Amino acid sequence: MKGQSLPQASCTGPVAASFGASSAEFKPPARPPLKWAGGKRWQVPHLKEIWQSYASRRLVEPFCGGLAVAMGLMPQRALLNDINPHLINFYRWLKRGLTISIPMDNRERLYYGHRARFNELLAEGRGQTRETAALFYYLNRTGYNGLCRFNRSGRFNVPFGRYTRIAYTKDFTLYSRVFDGWRFRCGDFEAIALQPGDFVYADPPYDVEFTSYAKEGFTWDEQVRVAEWLARHRGPVVLSNQATDRIVSLYRQLGFTLRFLQAPRKISCTGDRTPAREVLALRNV
Ligand SMILES: C[S@@+](CC[C@H](N)C(=O)[O-])C[C@H]1O[C@@H](n2cnc3c(N)ncnc32)[C@H](O)[C@@H]1O
Repeated sequence: MKGQSLPQASCTGPVAASFGASSAEFKPPARPPLKWAGGKRWQVPHLKEIWQSYASRRLVEPFCGGLAVAMGLMPQRALLNDINPHLINFYRWLKRGLTISIPMDNRERLYYGHRARFNELLAEGRGQTRETAALFYYLNRTGYNGLCRFNRSGRFNVPFGRYTRIAYTKDFTLYSRVFDGWRFRCGDFEAIALQPGDFVYADPPYDVEFTSYAKEGFTWDEQVRVAEWLARHRGPVVLSNQATDRIVSLYRQLGFTLRFLQAPRKISCTGDRTPAREVLALRNV
């Protein structure tokens, strides 16, 4: 993978402290290991400003996805949760120190062979093995847009990605050091046992207004469930979402302070290049 090390300036303060004085030479990996839809790497500079007063707290991410935020903030302690079991299985293997030995190459035939093997392992109830984690990484890098999609019978069905060039990582042992004080949990966000002092950064699937399409089945009722759950937390909370009218009024009504951000420009499937307006809703910060 490109850029295995952080620039010196990024490895100071709580980050460097978390690896101890004997780790002066240790450079944590700079990049999240997977491609993940809705990654919030671009928000890290905004979040760092808020986080710096709470850097000794436990960071809780109920929707951790591709880990862009945790890897940007580098907390010493974290609870990282997601409902996707393959994602969490992969992170748990990284924490143990993963090196990948399956062949990895940007070839269509190999891709479909590995995809079939991944589905076979899932069907056999072996979704938590090292091999499944390695295949998940390969499929994520090589498949179309890093998507993680399953058909009705639970088979991974993302087609080959047709990238010009892919840089695969085989040795993930650096991540085990970074993940040392981090715990990974798989399940619905509401089942997380929050501690009063936890710093919560919540980035649920976007609210999509004026359409019945709900990304990852995340309906308006789910958005309300997130907001009410966050409003009950006694510690600092930062929520990120698309700034639709109803999201803005929901969080306003619950007493959150709002900050608006422009997301980086993306071309949507309609060719629209308008940057999305996003909201950070803050509480107890
Ligand atoms: C927008 S992504 C998070 C992206 C992440 N902040 C990043 O930078 O990569 C939303 C995540 O929420 C997860 N998710 C969806 N429903 C969930 C639920 N009920 N409980 C926990 N996680 C859920 C999805 O699997 C997805 O990874």
